[in-house]
Amino acid sequence: MRDLRDWIARLERDGELARVGARVDPRLEITEIADRMAKSGGPALLFTDVEGADMPVLINQFGTERRMCAALGTDSLDALGARVESLMDLQPPQGVVAKVRALGRLRELASFSSKLVREGTCQEVWLDEPDLDRLPILTCWPDDGGPFITLPLVFSRDPTTGARNCGMYRIQKLDRRTALMHWQIHKDGAAHLRDSQGRVPVAVAIGTHPATTYSASAPLPPGIDEMIFAGFLRGRSVEMVRCRTVDLEVPAESEVVLEGYVDATDLRPEGPFGDHTGFYTPVDDYPTFHLTGMSMRRDAIYATTIVGPPPMEDFQLGKATERIFLPLIRMTLPDLVDMNLPLEGVFHNCALVSVRKRYPGHAKKLMSAIWGLGLLSLSRCVVVVDHDVDVQDVSAVAFQAFSNVDAGRDMLVVEGPVDALDHAAPYFAYGSKVGFDATRKWPGEGVVRPWPDPIVMSDEVRRLVDRRWAEYGLRAAPQEGTSGPRRTR
Ligand SMILES: Cc1cc2nc3c(=O)[nH]c(=O)nc-3n(C[C@H](O)[C@H](O)[C@H](O)COP(=O)(O)O)c2cc1C
Repeated sequence: MRDLRDWIARLERDGELARVGARVDPRLEITEIADRMAKSGGPALLFTDVEGADMPVLINQFGTERRMCAALGTDSLDALGARVESLMDLQPPQGVVAKVRALGRLRELASFSSKLVREGTCQEVWLDEPDLDRLPILTCWPDDGGPFITLPLVFSRDPTTGARNCGMYRIQKLDRRTALMHWQIHKDGAAHLRDSQGRVPVAVAIGTHPATTYSASAPLPPGIDEMIFAGFLRGRSVEMVRCRTVDLEVPAESEVVLEGYVDATDLRPEGPFGDHTGFYTPVDDYPTFHLTGMSMRRDAIYATTIVGPPPMEDFQLGKATERIFLPLIRMTLPDLVDMNLPLEGVFHNCALVSVRKRYPGHAKKLMSAIWGLGLLSLSRCVVVVDHDVDVQDVSAVAFQAFSNVDAGRDMLVVEGPVDALDHAAPYFAYGSKVGFDATRKWPGEGVVRPWPDPIVMSDEVRRLVDRRWAEYGLRAAPQEGTSGPRRTR
């Protein structure tokens, strides 16, 4: 698979894509259709007759876990996490076979770097007059401040080091050549602008190989090139082509490319926008993006998404990040067993984690570590359970939290940065966060009375009942009783 078109062909072959030939309105109507598909596990949609546009619209390409895995070329997201982990295996190889294998891995790593090529299909059509009106940009929700480009790969450079960054930040169209760049205060693109002389060159790619698109949303540390990560996911390097009006490169196979600069001295009100929190993000000032060039493929396809009350397509992108990055987090927090950023928490609002507890206060240490870690630091509520509770089972976590927490002893409230979209915080991007230690309490963790054992039936009686089930004349044969929370690990 080389590009978005190969991906669309693959989706179609697998029965994962529906073509919609009926004329549809990019204002609200596509949202309502895509929302119904996202909420029901429906297919990706290719709208071929979009009002006011001569370009088809692709949406919901990442809408299910199955499609997310296919996009990243893996059978399971955890398997991909394990691949990432094996890359980080820094043990010196023992013996000839291990050394040869380590060399192979190094060669594989080197092959992921992006490759500069002279020509790219993304420049097949060069527009002498860059014009955002050429794109079928969706107005997603009734109270949105305008049309928004929602699935862009935004490229910029660190003005000090020259290191490339690619992030996914929505862009609000103002007119044919002006837009607003919604890179939030904690994001790398915003840092580039802060460190610049007031302007940064920016290139925006729309419609790429799905693993490349996903990489733009991945929370890689600043300085680590998302295109190398994309190369790793795709299993081949991303070919990049130079832009014509800015000193940046974009994936050569992109469907649409916007070139320009973001201007910190020209801030304008952005929003409102029906956001992935399920609420409208209020109007706030963001820097303008001025278009200096625009190119596209012949018969270009416009790739987009909608966000809104979960679950939406972006839930799958976020889940992929949770599973792929978990092994990396475990490298610094080895006692973290598993993590779940549940749907209801829209990522930044809630992290459920399990810990292999080794000393008093270990759960609280884990909370503090999470509040110090990249974008996870913005987690507004952290619930820590013991290692044998399955955090993917939200009900099991709730059972532990409701049972095991004494508010005075087990609740930690801290102040610090919160997500820019957090509307409950008293200040913009600053507020309080809460952690619940829902683990079994040990002596030495404050005042702890003898802790009760969970109720579990004896194996002997379970086996007996299994054996005799038919004799009881009962229809279904549940595997086991429901004595207490499910403990799976
Ligand atoms: C569909 C989608 C839309 C997003 N929109 C924004 C946005 O408008 N602003 C923003 O700062 N982050 C947005 N994000 C999250 C960023 O893409 C994500 O935090 C990414 O890691 C940022 O890259 P960076 O770490 O290089 O800054 C969005 C993510 C997705 C999946």
